[in-house]
Amino acid sequence: MVDITSVDFNKNNELVILDQTRLPGEEKYLTLESKEDVYVAIKKLRVRGAPAIGIAAAFGLYVDVRESEAETTDEFKEEVHEVAEYLKKARPTAVNLAWALDRMTDKLDSFDGTVAAAKKMLLQEARNIRQEDEDACRRMGENGLSLLSKGMGILTHCNAGTLATAKYGTSLAALYLGKERGYDFHVYADETRPVLQGARLTAFELSKADIDVTLICDSMANQVMKNGWVDAVLVGCDRMAANGDGANKIGTNGLAILAKEYNIPFYMFVPTSSLDLDTPTGDDIEIELRDGDEIYKMWYEKPMAPEGIKTYNPSFDVTPAEYITAIVTENGIVRPPYAENLRKIKEAGAQREEHGVMPALSGLTRKND
Ligand code: MRU
Repeated sequence: MVDITSVDFNKNNELVILDQTRLPGEEKYLTLESKEDVYVAIKKLRVRGAPAIGIAAAFGLYVDVRESEAETTDEFKEEVHEVAEYLKKARPTAVNLAWALDRMTDKLDSFDGTVAAAKKMLLQEARNIRQEDEDACRRMGENGLSLLSKGMGILTHCNAGTLATAKYGTSLAALYLGKERGYDFHVYADETRPVLQGARLTAFELSKADIDVTLICDSMANQVMKNGWVDAVLVGCDRMAANGDGANKIGTNGLAILAKEYNIPFYMFVPTSSLDLDTPTGDDIEIELRDGDEIYKMWYEKPMAPEGIKTYNPSFDVTPAEYITAIVTENGIVRPPYAENLRKIKEAGAQREEHGVMPALSGLTRKND
């Protein structure tokens, strides 16, 4: 497992992120000191991946308000809400951003104590979010690995690894656990244009972990499937709607359609923090549109298209639920009917948080079930 941390709140009480725009060439850490620093880091993908964005925003909220001079707790609460609303605007699609900030403000709203105690409480909540994500990723890895066999060929898209989360990753967690247990997977990493998270980040972290990884262009996925080299497709998710439609990095839907054609299982890894039951279907998910420069300028020495060319650069697409073979969460593996079973899995997680144990679930499977 690669020893690298995407977001950390360190011993010196600093919020530090690994600048992912510089990978794989340079491992440079940045200290974020204000809400503006955090907003820009998220918007410019210096920290990216749904869970990592949520964690950075939670610590970012604390870092921005820790010097607040609010005299009353009510005044402090108002200030914190304003900062949270500002940070939420950094990126629209990954629900973890709003989820983490709402969790911080909800906790504060029900808090009755001094301003100093409220600040401490916010820091603790951000730490909880980070730790829970690490635990969730490990459990998702276990659940995901139970769907795989030794020697399989795996196709993956974008980066749903340790860089996108607190640790382990969502879909890549299964590959790291497989590595520890001698599964000898052969991984095909889509480069994932336009920002190349597959090439720069997935190929980087898997090769560092000594996992067999072959980089392909996005347009080659069909060919490796046709060659019979892919036994399962593993992808992450930035926001899953209540009916099981899942938004993930642009190109994911096309892979799901191909996988169906070739009869290859398509697994989407979704921590319950990315499960948005208030959004009914994928059509209701806002898809981030990014600057066209990413398509023809950003990664090249000189522009690869005429200056000023018209561009269309959606960052995500939505894979309809019917193309997803199973949804892997930290609480278990969800099979259709998704609308019903996703609700059960979310409730099951809430019950565990409250009572410390998972209730028995019907129609869902967990590792060792
Ligand atoms: O634009 P990004 O890099 O933040 O998008 C992230 C993704 O879409 C990843 O594929 C990922 O699966 C979701 S985060 C685990």
